[in-house]
Amino acid sequence: MDRYVTGDVIRALREKKGMTQEALAQRLFVSAKAVSKWETGKGYPDISLLEPLAAALDISVIELLNGQSVSNRNRAGNMIRGKWYVCPVCGNVLFAAGEAVISCCGITLPPLEPEAPDEDHRLEVRRVEDEYLVTVDHPMTKDHYLSFLAAVSDRGVQLIKLYPEEEALARFRIEGVRRVYGYCNRHGLFAIKL
Ligand SMILES: [Fe+2]
Repeated sequence: MDRYVTGDVIRALREKKGMTQEALAQRLFVSAKAVSKWETGKGYPDISLLEPLAAALDISVIELLNGQSVSNRNRAGNMIRGKWYVCPVCGNVLFAAGEAVISCCGITLPPLEPEAPDEDHRLEVRRVEDEYLVTVDHPMTKDHYLSFLAAVSDRGVQLIKLYPEEEALARFRIEGVRRVYGYCNRHGLFAIKL
């Protein structure tokens, strides 16, 4: 059976909290020897300890399973550097202003790294009255289509979901928009700065 958590992760999180093996053991009603065994890879905690272990280490269960804790220094977040996540199973689209561990359909989603648009994903931005009209000359078939267009400013995100057989087009309020994103279901996330 695969380990759901590694000893290195438990040790690192315990030490980060300034907790001794004894203190952690007491919290979980196990022996200090048991904790020592987990940390040295000679054993691993029973799955029933997953929640109490995460709670004792001040981390969510999903972060514990992922072996990565998240704590943002910039509490206000930074919209312009925000991260997009797309679930490959259900197509769910999420945006986070800071770092996060995000899970959907049983998968931990990596933040998408936007690329500069290539020839086939060029984001054309035109100003039409008080809006930006964004168009992309790209297929919109069931198998290959742009699934969203988005515009991000310091203050907010405008997201337009697109569906196959529609036009790859969106209108955004101009105010403060600094970045425009397009996501292709086959080729990933593209972004331009305005
Ligand atoms: Fe594409």
